[in-house]
Amino acid sequence: MRPFDDIDRLAKNPALDKIAAPARDLVHKVLRRQDVKDALHGVWLGHPLHPVLAQASLSFFASAGVLDVAPRTRRPATVLIALGLVSAAPTLAAGWADYADGHEEQQRVGVVNAAANGAMIAGYAASLAARLRGRSTRGAIIGWAALAAGVVGANLGGHMAYHQAMGANHAEGYPHIGPGDWTDVGPADELPEGEPTRRIIGDVGVLVVRRGETIHALADRCAHASAPLHEGSIVDGDGRGDCVVCPWHGSVFRLDSGSVVHGPATAPQPTFRTRVREGRLELAVTGYPGVPAS
Ligand code: FES
Repeated sequence: MRPFDDIDRLAKNPALDKIAAPARDLVHKVLRRQDVKDALHGVWLGHPLHPVLAQASLSFFASAGVLDVAPRTRRPATVLIALGLVSAAPTLAAGWADYADGHEEQQRVGVVNAAANGAMIAGYAASLAARLRGRSTRGAIIGWAALAAGVVGANLGGHMAYHQAMGANHAEGYPHIGPGDWTDVGPADELPEGEPTRRIIGDVGVLVVRRGETIHALADRCAHASAPLHEGSIVDGDGRGDCVVCPWHGSVFRLDSGSVVHGPATAPQPTFRTRVREGRLELAVTGYPGVPAS
């Protein structure tokens, strides 16, 4: 049996919902401000923030573990542990923000991940306290135990990111598989004004919205977790032009550029070029090599 089969069993275990669901509801209750949520998701970074911060925290802790076995380096190890504990606060906040907008199976693994990371942080806090009392050997032993818990947490986090695609860009494939040639999708005058509509070209679904003489077309699959954007709503995006709101977790994307106005999505929606020829709408994916501008 492969180690990740065990994590899959966690993901399928509904008993974990007794903890996962209240934890999700609590995060939603505490995290109300959209600007704070956007900052924690990493909208400003164009990439999920949590993995970046988690790398920093674990690097401090792992480095301290190495210094603890080197001669006369317990003091710098203590400094690294203190830095790791300081960096853990924003790391946890970003992780919980992402967790709250995950799906059920991600959240089941997420609560076990949180328990492992909680054990790691408690262990390092105890290690730091022991070191500050002058008991550096005891502090080092507790630190190694905490690092072991951190490795378990890191494996679970890796599973969530790579196996369950949490934080991944779910619309990344569009520029690679969307048709590069102009493709007819039907009469342009059949598009309702201001209503999200779905069209299929090649193997991909496209969100199409008419605004007067302008026709916008974006990847229909939400970059955050694959929701069908044509089931979302069209809004005025805080003075930033027309936007679509994702029906699942409320990410907001500009219709003209696909850029993210609000998360949890951090990657923009791929866009399609549009043109009308003899009354018929044609689309071609943007960024596809060899596609001429309309
Ligand atoms: S699927 Fe989560 S915001 Fe769209």
